[in-house]
Amino acid sequence: MREDITFILNNQVEKVSGLSGDTTLLNWLRQTKKLTGSKEGCGEGDCGACTVAVARPRADGAMQWQPVNACILFMGMLEGASVTTVEGIRPEGKGAPDLHPCQQVMVDQHASQCGFCTPGFVMSLFAAWCNGDGLAPAEIDTTLAGNLCRCTGYRPIVDAAAALPRRAIPPRWETRRRETEAGLMAAIAHDETVRLGDGKCSFIAPTSSDGFARAYAQAPDATIVSGATDVGLWVTKQNRKMPQMLWTGRVAGFDEIRRSGAHWRIGPAVTHQQAMPVLAEGRPDLAEVMRRFGSAQVRASGTVCGNIANGSPI
Ligand code: FES
Ligand code: FES
Repeated sequence: MREDITFILNNQVEKVSGLSGDTTLLNWLRQTKKLTGSKEGCGEGDCGACTVAVARPRADGAMQWQPVNACILFMGMLEGASVTTVEGIRPEGKGAPDLHPCQQVMVDQHASQCGFCTPGFVMSLFAAWCNGDGLAPAEIDTTLAGNLCRCTGYRPIVDAAAALPRRAIPPRWETRRRETEAGLMAAIAHDETVRLGDGKCSFIAPTSSDGFARAYAQAPDATIVSGATDVGLWVTKQNRKMPQMLWTGRVAGFDEIRRSGAHWRIGPAVTHQQAMPVLAEGRPDLAEVMRRFGSAQVRASGTVCGNIANGSPI
């Protein structure tokens, strides 16, 4: 078992150890890395001011960038992933513009006043822009539904999203950034269990179902965590202490959805976003309900099984 976590932050490798297992990404970014572009508004996954983009390869090998709420994401959940914050999107290299297109459209459309929400909106746009998805006129409200603005008003922000250039092939400077990101992620990939802890609170991320079962047998009082869209609030809002947390998100096969006769088998780490297309298949009414469930950020982290297991009030 490795006693540290390794991930990519703004295209640099980070190795972190000795940190309390319940440390959130937002607190670490702001307090340790002094990256204060990501803001804390609600601290509970509602406002999107803390939105960052987390990239991971999909099952088909293509990279996927997810907008996530850093305020309720535990550091141990980042093993092997790539995190991009608003500080990390600045275009670099020959021919690169001063501002990222996701920032430039916000300027051009006068879509920011106090600016507190702006980095979160920019990062939601950035994730959609990287995926080449969610920026068609009919999709923009859904893409931005997890970001709240108390001053500008949403019309210019939606106008900014609509003005964002959508290109099948990214500009050269962005291609270079993605190549670096993919190369670093491949270099740090491994399949060992990791533990992040400070002696008072440990976050354990096993990689196999046997390893998960063994870890749970050794610590039967451990809190099982999937997306942390509930458990994160136990920490940030209730100041609850959990000596051990056991994460489903890295276990091989826990993210699988399989059809079995008339039933679906949904693994414990399957997010709402992953489950939506199959659950809504042939049920347009349910598709509409699910589109309104949480937000893009919450659906990208929260899991169907965790939601049911917790009887989530949210
Ligand atoms: Fe509001 Fe994170 S601070 S969603
Ligand atoms: Fe002030 Fe959005 S610009 S909260």
